[in-house]
Amino acid sequence: MATRTSLQKTLGIGLTLGVTLLWLLGVIASGLVAQHEMNEVFDSALEETAQRILPLAVTDILNRENGSGNQRAPALQNHDEYLTYLVRDDHGNLLLQSHDANPEVFGTTPKEGFSNTPTHRLYGVSAVSNTIYLEVAEPLAHRRESALEAGLALLMPLIVLIPVSLLGIWWIVRLSLRKVVDFQQSIESRGAGDLSPVAENQLPLEFEPIAVAVNRLLERLHRALESERSFTANSAHELRTPLATALAKVQRLKTRISDEPLQHNVAEIEESLRSLSVLSGKLLELAKAEGGGALSQSPHDLVPILAMIVRDFEDQAPGRIVLSLPEREVNSFLDPDAFAILARNLIENALKHGSRSQPVEVSLKDKGVFRVCNGGDIVPPNQLALLRNRFARSKTDASGSGLGLAIADAIAKGAGMTLHLRSPATGRQDGFEAEINIAPIATGNANN
Ligand SMILES: Nc1ncnc2c1ncn2[C@@H]1O[C@H](COP(=O)(O)OP(=O)(O)O)[C@@H](O)[C@H]1O
Ligand SMILES: [Mg+2]
Repeated sequence: MATRTSLQKTLGIGLTLGVTLLWLLGVIASGLVAQHEMNEVFDSALEETAQRILPLAVTDILNRENGSGNQRAPALQNHDEYLTYLVRDDHGNLLLQSHDANPEVFGTTPKEGFSNTPTHRLYGVSAVSNTIYLEVAEPLAHRRESALEAGLALLMPLIVLIPVSLLGIWWIVRLSLRKVVDFQQSIESRGAGDLSPVAENQLPLEFEPIAVAVNRLLERLHRALESERSFTANSAHELRTPLATALAKVQRLKTRISDEPLQHNVAEIEESLRSLSVLSGKLLELAKAEGGGALSQSPHDLVPILAMIVRDFEDQAPGRIVLSLPEREVNSFLDPDAFAILARNLIENALKHGSRSQPVEVSLKDKGVFRVCNGGDIVPPNQLALLRNRFARSKTDASGSGLGLAIADAIAKGAGMTLHLRSPATGRQDGFEAEINIAPIATGNANN
């Protein structure tokens, strides 16, 4: 598997190495050109010097009384010579030398023009029909030093260039990737249910195909979910009438049968049909809850709705529900129908799965916290975490479909709220509690 790398790091190091390498090549090339040009200048100075000294030396030698023998040109002041010279005849006999000259530097016989020894650059000229030769020597070390200094001066900027280039590239890459990071964050911060297209036009051109692909995927996902939901809703809806008819027929049949065991069998069929019809009702609720629409355009007071729902349950379980309602209105953007479905499912669960000997506490607070709490065995945490899944049920004797909490959770999520499930219930050793804040935004506006 390829290791994941940071674009910023790769570009920063890669480009800096590239720039450094190019710079070094540039330094080598310009160093070579500079050396060539310097050599030309030095050579022309050498030549010029030789031609200047030659007439003086010739005059000096020709004017000597004995006409031969070596003489050292007198130094006006004691100094180190940079250029030294020898004047010799065509056999190599020394006639004149500059006061610092070392004859070993020069060849045994004099030569005209430029030549090199391992340590010096020489230039020779002749006069008086090639009988007198003047040679000037310049140490090569000086030229080498100049070339080295020029090269070093060209290398100097690299010390600044490397960190500046690293920093600059890092900064530019970071700047140009900012939109991509924003894009990534906007996708990350979306709720699971948000399948709306992502903004593609803010991304750098190179990244646009990704956004387009993401949008295409979202669109397909949206369509798939939509068709799944409408299929569930339609099937549940279509099943309703035939189920109701079958149930009515079975009930009629039951009254006509006098045979006890047969009646028992028919009663079982009736029970199955009834739970099937409950299941189809729940499926329809779930499809609606997952289809969105949990929020309404304007806030509604949910207190009377809750009072009505609890009153409905009174017939089923007289005296088991302890209701506490706020004195003020609780206005919420949660759709009243959706709230009714949510509350019914939670209360139904509390009555069904909670301990029969203990009351079910249903409360709505001023601030919009809706809570349903019951006694009974603790639901272990590992099971509690899974109860919101469709068809998930923990160990229970009560009949059911496993959809109630999935419906309640879908409504909460659709409205951007959080359904909390706790076991044991807050402030108790046992039991189960479901809590949701149904007016997280509207409360402040409604009560002030
Ligand atoms: N108030 C409650 N007290 C104890 N257990 C509960 C309560 N509500 C839900 N449960 C557990 O969560 C499971 C899933 O609940 P639900 O989705 O409503 O399905 P159902 O009620 O059809 O079993 C239940 O089977 C039950 O084990
Ligand atoms: Mg239930």
